[in-house]
Amino acid sequence: GAPVKVNISKIEPGQQMVAEWRGQPVFIVRRTEETLANLGKLTDAVADPKSEASEQPTYVDPSVRSIKPEVLIVVGLCTHLGCAPSFRPEVAAPDLGAEWLGGYFCPCHGSKYDMAGRVYKGQPAPLNLPVPPHSYETDSLVVIG
Ligand code: FES
Repeated sequence: GAPVKVNISKIEPGQQMVAEWRGQPVFIVRRTEETLANLGKLTDAVADPKSEASEQPTYVDPSVRSIKPEVLIVVGLCTHLGCAPSFRPEVAAPDLGAEWLGGYFCPCHGSKYDMAGRVYKGQPAPLNLPVPPHSYETDSLVVIG
């Protein structure tokens, strides 16, 4: 499939947009400073903190899983059986447990991912959400694929 160009300039801090690439949803989130700081607190809670087993281009910073720290780009398909995880950015969610600091929740079998798409330990999903190949044409234009 051809690469797709996505204008990300309208994404507000803390919000997500959904693009499409190769027939798959791609989640693009503009993360806040608070969200980025919270990622460091979850190192022991997630299964693959540096994405050593999970799909991620080598040019992505493994600590935040992105090129620009504030912009997360992941394929929006649960690595268990491919359902669409729900965006749950709130830092406290009683239904998602005490460790929850925002992220994605898969409604099919309950897998939880943080705001870097890293799966929590002990979930049905085995891997982090994949980071697709991408690059920046300008600050606001990202090329996926
Ligand atoms: Fe997401 Fe099973 S498909 S937990």
